[in-house]
Amino acid sequence: MNHFELQGGELYCEDVALAKIAEAVGTPVYVYSSATLERHFNVLRDALTAAGLKDPLIAFAVKANSNVAVLRTLAQAGAGADVVSEGEIRRAIAAGVPAERIVFSGVGKTEAEVAYALETGVAEINLESEPELHLVNTVAQRMGKRATIAIRVNPDVEAGGHAKISTGKAENKFGVSMAEAERLYANASNMAGVRPVGVACHIGSQITDLAPLEAAFRKMRALVERLRAEGLSVERLDLGGGLAAPYFNQPTPPAPSDYAAMIARVMDGLPDIQFAFEPGRMIAANAGVLVARVLHVNARPEGRRFLVLDAAMNDLLRPAMYDAYHEIQPVKPRAGEPVVYDVVGPICETGDTFTRDRALPPIEAGDLVAFMTAGAYGAAMSSEYNSRLLAPEVLVKGSQFAVVRPRPTYDDMLAREQAAPWL
Ligand code: LLP
Repeated sequence: MNHFELQGGELYCEDVALAKIAEAVGTPVYVYSSATLERHFNVLRDALTAAGLKDPLIAFAVKANSNVAVLRTLAQAGAGADVVSEGEIRRAIAAGVPAERIVFSGVGKTEAEVAYALETGVAEINLESEPELHLVNTVAQRMGKRATIAIRVNPDVEAGGHAKISTGKAENKFGVSMAEAERLYANASNMAGVRPVGVACHIGSQITDLAPLEAAFRKMRALVERLRAEGLSVERLDLGGGLAAPYFNQPTPPAPSDYAAMIARVMDGLPDIQFAFEPGRMIAANAGVLVARVLHVNARPEGRRFLVLDAAMNDLLRPAMYDAYHEIQPVKPRAGEPVVYDVVGPICETGDTFTRDRALPPIEAGDLVAFMTAGAYGAAMSSEYNSRLLAPEVLVKGSQFAVVRPRPTYDDMLAREQAAPWL
């Protein structure tokens, strides 16, 4: 469920007409709904607690949407943050996420990032390899600290979904094998600079079927039990993110209540464990849209009709990168028979195509369209390719809206560069 709906023939975000935002801020522009963000967070938390998983740590995956106002909205609802870089730690802190709710994941952390995380006092550093364990142990000891760590395990299950976002197979770069995890955990508990508190997994993204998650979670439970049988203390089990968001035209994702019930079933009777989660997409995807204006309707005599927008692949990369499907809705739909369009951006490569052969209500130059389900991995993945300015971001709450990342100016863009002395 989300808060982007037609009211009186035009698309609104909560109580604000998207056309009004486009008028005030220009296009392309990302628009987020506070109510949808909060709702998705609460639905997940309520489902987990109703299933009996006490006091779960729900660390929003900052990579999905790293806007500080979005993070603050979620932090105020009680979310933590799953971060993968110093930049993301800084964003989470700036948004008011308490350090004890920050989980530092990621395949390759630099020494400086580890030091920064320890200084900040993050709840847990998820380690993905033996060299990383040694790095954290060394840095922590040098700083006179003991790092709270978890070992990220690669449970070797096929999560389905797009190959570029599958992370749980043995051949992927993420985590260590079950056997390695046992060895590293035992080693870590004898190291002066680290304190292992748990194990973590994350098998992929946009997972529409509970079966691979269940298979992975069963393996994780067995691992916890083996570690405990060896006399090691395991307090936390981080089950990652990955639950799908309902993109239009895609298989319906499992309900959070079914996800929570499955976890409760798999973990039944496992005592004294806190569960952590790292959801990104299921919270943010349907909480955001990208609003663009149609620059031209280019009807070729031989038949194809191109809608040329002022948004491009630099603003929303997912269609070009993963062939992702985003529903496109006219902001003020016109009456009439559907027309088949190719929807493209102005960037000089064929990949800058959002969709081909999409039947939409009739559209004219100057109309506004909204890419739905763009709140996760939308703005966060945008770039200035073709020297296009980053699209601004707007947060809506009820009848109010605020620009939470302004559109930069061309002077801002140029000011980031400097001449080489010989030029
Ligand atoms: N935790 C870890 C360690 C992750 O690597 C990810 C996502 C998440 C949590 C959050 O997963 P989610 O709940 O959002 O599925 N750019 C791609 C998605 C990449 C996901 C990478 N890792 C896309 O636009 O589809």
